[in-house]
This record gives sequence, C-alpha cells and structure tokens, in this order.
Amino acid sequence: MEIVNSVKDLKNYLAKEKLHGQRIGFVPTMGALHEGHLSLVRHCLAENDICVTSIFVNPTQFNDKNDLDAYPRTPEKDCLLLESAGCHCLFAPSGEEMYPEPDTRVFDFGLIGKVMEGRYRPGHFNGVAQIVSKLFEAVGADRAYFGEKDFQQIAVIREMVRQMDMPVQIVACPILREADGLAMSSRNQRLTGEQRQKAPLIAQTLKESLNFVPDKTVQEVRDFVVHRLNSEALLSVEYFEIVDGYTLMPVDNWRETTYPVGCIAVFCGKVRLIDNIMYKN
Ligand code: PAJ
Repeated sequence: MEIVNSVKDLKNYLAKEKLHGQRIGFVPTMGALHEGHLSLVRHCLAENDICVTSIFVNPTQFNDKNDLDAYPRTPEKDCLLLESAGCHCLFAPSGEEMYPEPDTRVFDFGLIGKVMEGRYRPGHFNGVAQIVSKLFEAVGADRAYFGEKDFQQIAVIREMVRQMDMPVQIVACPILREADGLAMSSRNQRLTGEQRQKAPLIAQTLKESLNFVPDKTVQEVRDFVVHRLNSEALLSVEYFEIVDGYTLMPVDNWRETTYPVGCIAVFCGKVRLIDNIMYKN
C-alpha cells in the first residue's frame, strides 16, 4: 500500500493511475478503523480499480474541543487493517497540509444541514463540507463511499456535490453492526464496560419499533423509542426524528413519505452515539 502525506504526492501517484484509465474510488475516514470502515473499502475495491482511503481527524467538524481531544487515534493498527483489506493508497495528511490557512467558507445546505445533527452540533456539517470538498479536490475520484450510519452526512455530501457540480458519484453503504446490534463506531471504544452493555438497547429498540408500523402513529412510535431508552439510567436521548429519507423533513404521518427513516442520537454517559433505521410502510 502506498502511503502519502501530501496533496502533491497523492496527485502524482494518482496521475499515473488515471493515465492508464484506472477508475478511482475514495473512502474518507477519521481513522480508528473498524469493520464498518473496512466494509466501505471492500465496496470501493469491488467497483473501482484503485481504492484511496484518507485518515484525517478533521478539527473543523468538532464543535466540542473535548470530543476532538478524546477522539481515538490508532494509526499503526489502521495501516495494517487497510493493507490487509487490499487498499491501494492511504492518504494521511497533517493539519497544516489540509488547512495551510483557516478555511472561512460557509456552506448553506438549507434544511438538510439544519435539522437533527445540524441543530445539535452547530457548525459540524460546515466542517464536514470543508474537509470533504478539499479531499474530493485532492483525490479526483470517480466514486466516493459513505456509510449510512451517518445518514444525514450522506444527504449533506450529496447536496454539496450538487451545489459545487463535482464530478464524483456518491455511494451509500449499509450500517455494519456488532453481534448485539450496536452500530460499529470509533466512539464505541470510549464506552465503559457497563455502558457497552447498555448501548445495544438503542439498536434493539429501533428494531423493535419496526413492528409498530404502520398500525401505530408516527408520534406513538417516537414516544415508544424515546421513553424506552430514557428509562435506562445510562442512556439519554438527544433527539429521535422520523423523517423523509430524501428531504430529511420530519413526517407526522406514515402516508406522507415512501421512505421513512428514524434517526437517533443518544448519550451513553459522555459518549454520543447515533444510529438510524428505515421503516417500511
Ligand atoms: P468516520 O466517522 O471515520 O467515518 C468514515 C466513514 O465510515 C463514514 O462514511 C461513516 O458513515 C462510515 N461508517 C462509520 N461507521 C460505520 C458502520 N458501522 N457501518 C458502515 N459505515 C460506517 O464520517 C466521518 O468519519 C467524517 O465525517 C468524514 C466524512 C471522514 C469527514 O471528516
């Protein structure tokens, strides 16, 4: 696996591959890799000739400095995992490399960027758009792979690509889960033993709520999920919204949408976990 740390070296490496007509796939990450990330790499390898993965803990998307400091960093292990998954190139730039000067760009994604994560993590998606647009420019990939665990992030990236008219296809990949249902996340490493035991209740409750549709109303399903999770002392729901999966607008009635998705953020102690589920109506 080729490891490059500068945009210049990355472009040099990719120029040769592009010259030979190789299709380039890209997987942006913040490292502390797990099977969820590796599943994106595998999707990427299946659909492209070259897979580029980036690891960069992007400071501009953290609205909480403590969260940035506490974010897990496991560079050696990440390298081994990417190598054994068959990734061709790791792009691991420094902060200086990605932000030689402060990025003052302000994006406007309309309501897609303002609801849910946008509401509770102000500035988060602006930071995501800053780094992903820079990474897209550096890689020049044909396709880029994102996990549905960050459901709203995909909608924001698609909107960014549309607004900036970028020639990259965004591919959404399914959520990978632990055996007990907990969505894989780098943040799971920060859970204590007791918290780790309770965290699967989030996914289990979402799954259970599938059975209530469409007999119970949207409001009833929402209340069930929130009350069930909040009744567990270690869990505290920040939001649970049932939205139209295309527009991310909250729905009040199952008949309003063909693509209802329940998106949730829950604090498990100090660790903020997100998950989502698609309802069929
Ligand atoms: P990070 O949290 O490292 O996630 C990188 C990619 O892996 C994202 O597309 C995310 O949705 C996906 N992913 C994480 N857990 C997953 C799981 N359990 N199953 C499937 N996919 C999963 O998302 C980011 O980094 C950053 O915001 C980034 C896009 C890299 C910009 O900094």
